[in-house]
Amino acid sequence: MFSSSLGKKYLMALTGLVLIGFVFVHMAGNLQVLAGQAQINAYAHSLQSLPWFILWGSRLFLLAAVLIHAWTAYSLIVENRKARPDSNEVEVTKRAGLASLRMGLTGSIILAFIVFHLLHFTVRTIYPEYAEMMTTVGSPNESEIHDAFLMIISGFKHDIISVFYVVAMALLCAHLAHGFSSVFQSIGIRSESWRAKLDLIGVGYAWLIFIGFSIVPLSVLAQKHGIYEFYDPSFFSQEVDDEALSTNPLNNES
Ligand code: HEM
Repeated sequence: MFSSSLGKKYLMALTGLVLIGFVFVHMAGNLQVLAGQAQINAYAHSLQSLPWFILWGSRLFLLAAVLIHAWTAYSLIVENRKARPDSNEVEVTKRAGLASLRMGLTGSIILAFIVFHLLHFTVRTIYPEYAEMMTTVGSPNESEIHDAFLMIISGFKHDIISVFYVVAMALLCAHLAHGFSSVFQSIGIRSESWRAKLDLIGVGYAWLIFIGFSIVPLSVLAQKHGIYEFYDPSFFSQEVDDEALSTNPLNNES
């Protein structure tokens, strides 16, 4: 029982480490949208053009990391509940219980966000017209490629969706602020003297991720509401919106 809990703790920490690394790489990739249509489209296209075994290998690896992280977390929470006596709880145990409850709650909402996000931008079932957005801007050889820039701008022009993304990023920030330092404790390399430093690095990293991800939806909203011009204004014209809507088969009722 002890060794299996320890194994789960290690697995949870290792998969957490993989996800901590992934969010940084993904955030840095997304920020290229600020450099304009050609830059982000070329970047997205270079990822889509990776050999299939690398693309699908990393997708499956990431999916496995998310599922194992969620499953080990759930199973450890259940084990801890069973092991903890109801009465005479010491303050420290109570606090640890509350922290894991908070991590479980933020983690579950982030999991739901990831499902929505994949349907939004990767599988593109929420707005099927995103799959039809093609352009030669950013293409390495003048052939048509997917217009990731137009999809992102169109995606975040919906206030409610942008707000949902920013709230999800705030929860991710809260999750990382605690989780970052916990990883090092779980794998047994967080000494008491390093605890305060790792806690601080974790909080700094969480804020970096929050700000880096939130800039994208917030910059689109800022331009849509006339606060600041980050992008080519032609992407904010009525014609672009109309054209995007007209390519949606769900809107072609006439
Ligand atoms: C404002 C925040 C975010 C933006 C703007 C964003 C943007 C994108 C875009 C545009 C794609 C599709 C890429 C393409 O197929 O061309 C994508 C895919 C993806 N995103 Fe995000 N993302 C954000 C936050 C997140 C977060 C917080 C996570 C995970 C915790 C995440 C996980 C993923 C995954 C797993 C994929 C699928 C990658 C693949 O196709 O293999 N994203 N994201």
